[in-house]
Amino acid sequence: MTVRVPAKVNLSLGVGRARPDGYHALATVYQAVDLHDELRITDRSDGEIAVTVHTEIDLPEGAAVPEGDDNIAVRAAKLLRDRLGRPELGADIAIRKVIPVAGGMAGGSADAAATLVGCNELWGGGLTRPELEPLAAELGSDVPFLLHGGNAIGGGRGETISPILARGGYHWVFATAAEGLSTAAVYAEFDRLNPNGVLEPEVPDALLNALRAGDAHLLGKTLTNDLTDAALSLRPELGDTLKVGLEAGALGALISGSGPTTLFLVASEEHGLDVSMALASVASSADVIQSRGPVTGARLI
Ligand code: C5P
Repeated sequence: MTVRVPAKVNLSLGVGRARPDGYHALATVYQAVDLHDELRITDRSDGEIAVTVHTEIDLPEGAAVPEGDDNIAVRAAKLLRDRLGRPELGADIAIRKVIPVAGGMAGGSADAAATLVGCNELWGGGLTRPELEPLAAELGSDVPFLLHGGNAIGGGRGETISPILARGGYHWVFATAAEGLSTAAVYAEFDRLNPNGVLEPEVPDALLNALRAGDAHLLGKTLTNDLTDAALSLRPELGDTLKVGLEAGALGALISGSGPTTLFLVASEEHGLDVSMALASVASSADVIQSRGPVTGARLI
């Protein structure tokens, strides 16, 4: 059983107050992009759930993909097994990792979504996508979106997904960083920078209009991320990366989620090559990747 699952970007990321459960209220627009992890999942008769990870990319300094029960794919498989009430089920999960690790592109969440879809099929669980959603939400804020893919609004702490009317395909350039960032650390920095609280987060109307029209130039002007100052406070050099991409003609630039990956919307693949060339010379960028969106969510192949 093989499952392919995309990375996500947040076209807008509105961050509100910290809730009593420690998570922040979000109003975000997600887009799934053509950068995929692939999971091969096979049955095991001894009731064990094990994971192996093969990384196709350079890992950022100090970052590691967790092994065993600390890996979110193992947690996803165990959660599904509990939900099915079948403790005897087992699986080997082999992850081929292409999505940047600790990069703000939901690589771990993607593997969790893929595991839910793959194990449900492998074990004959028979759960529908809407039935998998609450399990996905329990695993992480971005996991439900990665079951769906496409474009969607995320509310709650990111886990409540509503579809949006959107048109067009978009070209992206991503610059990964040599050192990863912890999502929790960036949110903590956001709180430190906003001691007096923040307003209720909202999705900008202008951004939704740009998506409805399929207008990349308009979309580029409306990309926003409330975690920008927090990520730049922890990694000031990302400001230079954003500047270089914009100077090379990107239609818009922003930090991906909690960072440190930076995103550049471009007009075409050729235009993306120019922007990529400029970014490749920036000291703080490790890898430069061209991609497209939207694409579909976790699916069996
Ligand atoms: O949901 P996920 O496990 O991906 O979140 C990782 C961490 O990011 C959380 O433990 C929390 O510190 C922070 N976070 C947050 N508010 C959100 C999403 C994540 O504070 N809406």
